[in-house]
Amino acid sequence: MGAGNGPTAPGIGVLVSGSGSNLQAILDAAAAGSIPAPVRLVVSNRPEAYALQRAAEAGVEGRVIQHHDYPDRETFDTAVAEALEDAGVDLVVLAGFMRILSEGFVRRFEGRLLNIHPSLLPLYRGLHTHRRALEAGDREHGCTVHFVTPELDAGPSIIQARVPIEPDDGPDTLARRVLTQEHRIYPLAVRWFVQGRLELRGGIPHLDGQPLLEPVTIRPDDPLPH
Ligand code: GRF
Repeated sequence: MGAGNGPTAPGIGVLVSGSGSNLQAILDAAAAGSIPAPVRLVVSNRPEAYALQRAAEAGVEGRVIQHHDYPDRETFDTAVAEALEDAGVDLVVLAGFMRILSEGFVRRFEGRLLNIHPSLLPLYRGLHTHRRALEAGDREHGCTVHFVTPELDAGPSIIQARVPIEPDDGPDTLARRVLTQEHRIYPLAVRWFVQGRLELRGGIPHLDGQPLLEPVTIRPDDPLPH
C-alpha cells in the first residue's frame, strides 16, 4: 500500500451496470499508485455485470443492489448511498451506471459525484451518442468527465477528449476510439479529485484553484496533463 492509502485518503466508490472498462482503468490506476486512493466499493444494479468480476479480481468489494427490489427510486438510491457511506466512500464515480439518480442522491454527494459521458457535452446528452454524432455529420466526437447535477448529463464539465471522426467510421468503430480516450481522462480526473486539486465551487469546477470556465481539452496524441 502506498502512502496515499492511509486512513485519510479519500475512499472511492464506483457505480456500474455493464462491462466496467472505465472501472478497470480506475482500478489499474489505483493499483499503480497514480490514483493515490483506494476503491472501497463497487455497486452494480445488475448481477450479471462483468464489472463485478473486475472488482473481484482486483480484491475490491462488489455489491449488487437491484432497483426492482425497492418500491421506488428514492429508496433504491438511499440503499446505494448508505452502502457507499458504510464503506467509507467520499468520491462517487459513475462508470456506465444505467440508472438516473434522484435529486436527493445527487445532493447528498454534491461536489463528489463524477460521471463520464461519451460525447462532447453539451452535445448529445442521453443515449446513442456515437450514432447521433455520425448522423449529424460531425467531424469530431469525444467524451466528457463532469460533475453530476440533478439534470441528466448537464453538470459542469472538467475534461474532454476530442476524437476526429473518420470517413469510414460507424458507431462501433467510433465508440471504440472514444472509449480508449475515456480510459485516459477518467482516471486523470479521479486523480485530480483525490489529490485535492479538483473541486466544485459555486457550481464551477476548479483545478489547482483556477476556475475551469471551459473543460480541459485533450486529443488522442496529446500527452496527458499533469
Ligand atoms: C461508456 O461509454 C461511458 O461513457 C458511458 O457508459 C459506457 C461504460 O462503459 N457512461 P464501461 O462499462 O466502462 O466499459
